[in-house]
Amino acid sequence: MVRRFLTLSPVISRLNLNPGIFLAASPSLRLQRQNLKPKISIISPSSASTFQRTRAYTTRTRVSSSLPRSESWKLDDDGLVVLGIETSCDDTAAAVVRGNGEILSQVISSQAELLAQYGGVAPKQAEEAHSRVIDKVVQDALDRANLTEKDLAAVAVTIGPGLGLCLRVGVQKARRVAGAFNLPIVGVHHMEAHALVARLVEHELSFPFMALLISGGHNIIVLAHELGQYTQLGTTVDDAIGEAFDKTAKWLGLDLRRSGGPAVEELALEGDSKSVMFNVPMKNHKDCNFSYAGLKTQVRLAIEAREIDAKCPVSSATKEDRRNRADIAASFQRVAVLHLEEKCERAIDWALKLEPCIKHMVVSGGVASNQYVRSRLNNIVENKNLKLVCPPPSLCTDNGVMVAWTGLEHFRVGRFDPPPPAIEPDDYVYDLRPRWPLGEEYAQGRSEARSLRTARVHPSLTSIIRAADSLHQQTQTSQ
Ligand code: KG4
Ligand code: ZN
Repeated sequence: MVRRFLTLSPVISRLNLNPGIFLAASPSLRLQRQNLKPKISIISPSSASTFQRTRAYTTRTRVSSSLPRSESWKLDDDGLVVLGIETSCDDTAAAVVRGNGEILSQVISSQAELLAQYGGVAPKQAEEAHSRVIDKVVQDALDRANLTEKDLAAVAVTIGPGLGLCLRVGVQKARRVAGAFNLPIVGVHHMEAHALVARLVEHELSFPFMALLISGGHNIIVLAHELGQYTQLGTTVDDAIGEAFDKTAKWLGLDLRRSGGPAVEELALEGDSKSVMFNVPMKNHKDCNFSYAGLKTQVRLAIEAREIDAKCPVSSATKEDRRNRADIAASFQRVAVLHLEEKCERAIDWALKLEPCIKHMVVSGGVASNQYVRSRLNNIVENKNLKLVCPPPSLCTDNGVMVAWTGLEHFRVGRFDPPPPAIEPDDYVYDLRPRWPLGEEYAQGRSEARSLRTARVHPSLTSIIRAADSLHQQTQTSQ
């Protein structure tokens, strides 16, 4: 059955977030998909406001907001091609992905030299680096896919969470491309993209499933009920595991040009993981939250106690010094991952009570490319009779594929914005969401430590989508 689907006007678009405003949407914003014909070119600019853009859809492409989410991706939509742009942190990435999951191109420009120079991400320098390469990265992605903008169905771009200055570069570029070629635009949640890219890799992965998302800035464990619907079972009360890997690498004098995590992982192979007895964080907290600030301090003290000089690169260290550093790296990694293991075990028990039919646990985000992390978590997940789904390392760290794919998933169910104007007004205010929770917190999982933290800036992705879906239902029933 071909159904109508809802698109959002510029006023209520996902990029112009305000859940309250969603409720004011007019039924005139609906598209009659029945009227669409395959491969029809763009309609006249005068009717662009109702967004009857048809070129993207072929008769083989069914789009519906009421399809069961887990089924929707299986639709035959080879004709749907989306460009994804990611600039939320220190990687400038773009990719072109087809609706059937085929990756047509993937381009990443990383800021390795800057990372090494500043010992971490410096927002202003990162923004400048994104601005220098963004046009080339996007062009390369299109060229390698052997396509032009005219072949695209939509542009997807990360709008949060991340560094505001950096997000802005990607959103500006996405809007320029979309505006120039009259393409719809999908605003993507970076952490949802880390989770959903697993569905591109593992075709059996249907909702509901669990996801542990571990990166430089985030450490969350969620229950994914369906597309855009997440319950957050746990998060970090301070730092994320990736930040702890990065600082450990810096204090151990490792080469940061590939980011700290891989350097620690490599050195840890030489060390004795039981030689330094670090305490596992939050042992007495019967929740699924994480903390890595205390472990970072333990690592720093151990480094000071052994008089390791970070200014002396590990490559020039004496044999004994190198062994000391390797022991710390291995011991840190063991305890950091033990903390993940303990919390994951509990989270799986909680999740199975909420959604007993869960079969998979996704582990994604930069830290999930670590082989030790993967193998330890695999044991936990298998013991609970679930299957671990870890995207390949190149799709765990930040990339454009995950953004394009997540854009595709939302686009298919009608969640996108109409094309921006070809020439954006100078005073246009971009809707960027540096602090943007993915899901609603599970009440039982709330941490007292966390309640002291500053308030959220944005309503969660889940609450926004719920508001939009309930509007959709209201307008359906009132007709
Ligand atoms: O997801 P991601 O690429 O960017 C963010 O969204 O933050 O994650 C980057 C983080 C960095 O902290 C990096 O050190 C860590 O992932 N990472 C690793 C490994 N590869 C990347 N941590 C441990 N082991 C690795 N092999
Ligand atoms: Zn990331």
